[in-house]
Amino acid sequence: LAGDEVIVVSNREPYIHEKNGNRIEVKRPASGLVTAVEAVMRACSGTWVAHGSGSADRMVVDRCDRVAVPPANPSYTLRRVWLSSEEEQGYYYGFANEGLWPLCHIAHVRPVFRSEDWNQYVAVNQRFADAVVKEARTDDPVVLVQDYHFALLPRMVRQALPRATIITFWHIPWPNPESFGICPWREQILEGMLGSTILGFHTPFHRRNFIETVDRYLETRIEAEASTISYDGKLTLVEAYPISIAWPESTTASTAEESRAIVCSDLGLPEDHLIGIGVDRLDYTKGIVERFQAVERMLERHPDMVGRFSFVQIAAPSRSSLEEYQQFAARVRKLAARINARCANGAYQPIVLKAEHHDHDRLLHYYRASQVCMVTSLHDGMNLVAKEYIAAREDEQGVLVLSQFTGAARELHEALIVNPYHIEQGADALHRALTMPRDEQRERMRSLRALVREFNVYRWAGRMLLDAARLRQRERIAT
Ligand code: G6P
Repeated sequence: LAGDEVIVVSNREPYIHEKNGNRIEVKRPASGLVTAVEAVMRACSGTWVAHGSGSADRMVVDRCDRVAVPPANPSYTLRRVWLSSEEEQGYYYGFANEGLWPLCHIAHVRPVFRSEDWNQYVAVNQRFADAVVKEARTDDPVVLVQDYHFALLPRMVRQALPRATIITFWHIPWPNPESFGICPWREQILEGMLGSTILGFHTPFHRRNFIETVDRYLETRIEAEASTISYDGKLTLVEAYPISIAWPESTTASTAEESRAIVCSDLGLPEDHLIGIGVDRLDYTKGIVERFQAVERMLERHPDMVGRFSFVQIAAPSRSSLEEYQQFAARVRKLAARINARCANGAYQPIVLKAEHHDHDRLLHYYRASQVCMVTSLHDGMNLVAKEYIAAREDEQGVLVLSQFTGAARELHEALIVNPYHIEQGADALHRALTMPRDEQRERMRSLRALVREFNVYRWAGRMLLDAARLRQRERIAT
């Protein structure tokens, strides 16, 4: 695909310009999708179409709503699409985050489907599709469509640009046909997605769920062996492509000792204090409540750890105008306060809750300073925090406790794998991590690091683009 035009489309933008008094600040969002795709865009340039959501976003774009990014060293174009508050409410908060998000994650939160939201979802998908078509300089660009915000867009772009190569990646799990079947617009969503040349999921399991869902609800021809679906005269390859991170080039920041000193002084802890870390958006799928319960149980069972160990939860506020998220945030705060009150002893806090956004460099210090990282999602497409922790541990120390319900658990076998609903098991794993001999930590971390280094985000994108190039070639020969 060398030389081909690349256009990415996602809801969340990679750089958010915010007003801060008279100054304009650039922020990076807390989004696994953005972390991964941005690394690829930096390498291949092109155009990224996304929702302009920052308070100063309009102040930095040109007349065509474009801005060159990354701000310090531009290598590609960000094209912003503006949404009215009704559009944002219906399409983003409503259908995407109250409908599809709980529909696709097994977290036992009931999806809400409203016709008004659906209508906005259709309209906004069309607006983004139009923006993609407008940005295209050729009639056969490679369009990389990201996530559940844009299930209808592949078909819309296909109608305007029949020769485009459309690669859609679904960053969240895909449920089984019964679960998906409750969606009132299930056929439209499947038809929309099948406008893609390639449809990617994180795991073979999600891919299989998708194929079974299509089989149940649409009249198609499925070639199970080749993993293709023919619908409406168009062939779609459905594949598993586990996403990853860009492996950091070399030690730019500090050593583990320096990071510990920074973090301990941040938190007012002695430098020999044992630290556990969790980094998530404040989202009900992440298993934060169960994680705190596991910490509490571990302290009950091992009173010698009281006063010596603290769990630091960094929780970036997310989708906070939705009631479900507000209630969840309140629950997390209340539980942390209860556990802290129970173990109160001077300034000691077993749970340190930092419910605010932290930039990547700050997070690196926290990863390096922590003996254990807990990723206990109730359900998660991949989870890149697990991979970021591994990449940060150049010292080959530290233990990852990982939920079996993440895509990451299919690859990261040397982590301590747990069922997050099983609080005793979580407590055991946490204690085992905190008391693990250094040699065992090194052996596990070395092997995790080798895996993430090799199966990095360029490999993820490369595999999709290679498959796309093959299909494109095949089509060229056939026509
Ligand atoms: C998940 C989704 C992404 C999304 C991210 C942050 O990782 O798969 O599409 O960007 O959450 O959520 P937000 O709603 O803030 O974009």
